[in-house]
Amino acid sequence: MIKESACCADNIKKGETLISVKNLFKAFGVKKVLKGLTIEVKKGEVLVIIGPSGCGKSVLLKHIMGLLSPDSGTIHYAGNEVTKFGEAEFNVMRKRFGMLFQGAALFDSLTVGENISFGLREHTQLAKSAIDKIVNEKLDLVGLPGIADLKPAQLSGGMKKRVGLARAIAMDPDVLLYDEPTTGLDPVMVTIIDKLTVDMNKKLGCTTVLVTHDMKSAFRIADRIAMHFDGQIIEVGTRDEIMRSGNPVVKQFIEGSEEGPITLSHATVEK
Ligand SMILES: Nc1ncnc2c1ncn2[C@@H]1O[C@H](COP(=O)(O)OP(=O)(O)OP(=O)(O)O)[C@@H](O)[C@H]1O
Ligand SMILES: [Mg+2]
Repeated sequence: MIKESACCADNIKKGETLISVKNLFKAFGVKKVLKGLTIEVKKGEVLVIIGPSGCGKSVLLKHIMGLLSPDSGTIHYAGNEVTKFGEAEFNVMRKRFGMLFQGAALFDSLTVGENISFGLREHTQLAKSAIDKIVNEKLDLVGLPGIADLKPAQLSGGMKKRVGLARAIAMDPDVLLYDEPTTGLDPVMVTIIDKLTVDMNKKLGCTTVLVTHDMKSAFRIADRIAMHFDGQIIEVGTRDEIMRSGNPVVKQFIEGSEEGPITLSHATVEK
């Protein structure tokens, strides 16, 4: 089993490659989802992934987190080949990762506090008083003090997303993965969550990979934007580079135009 220190982002300097995904292929039955996808994530950055519905963005995040394994290709994290990890190594690595799943994915039967402290209770020996203190700190950070005893059913959609975020940051992760953190929220809440994600990146000194359909959010928060299309990353660049891109797919996506290479079939047809 690898040592905790071997899986630590501290070994990598800011701006250097922390996560390297190379030539990743993944099919579910006959459906080819990832078709030679390559992307590098640099330490300390906010990398935003955009792309049409169904193109495989969530599947990519799940590979990075080690929740899915590829048919071929490699993923390295802090120099370690994740794609060769066994369960024990994954457990070491996952403690370094926080993930906000699409739709928040809170456990309905647990309280807000129990949801947030889930990882802490699983992976640490901390006393209840210490865990309660962390829960309250994280709730303060996401602007929801004093709601630890509520159940998810008592929360609005925006509150659930913020509790999901508090859970993702509970273990002070090195890497934060967000899957559509603002979908379905009102514009004010979108701005609040956008600001929170950038704040978390700075305050925790972590690296952020965030999937969104919301171009306004993407341009507001990203250091770099990657366009995912048809199982590959077809373009990566700074906000300005993506805004000025001559690639017809990127142009169509950021303009939200009906005309262009992206059609309904990209989301629905088996290929
Ligand atoms: N566990 C799975 N088993 C079978 N098919 C899957 C599985 N997970 C994802 N898929 C398929 O892979 C494709 C990509 O799914 P994914 O959830 O990554 O899309 P996405 O880009 O995140 O879309 P959206 O923007 O709508 O969230 C879809 O066709 C989906 O049905
Ligand atoms: Mg998705």
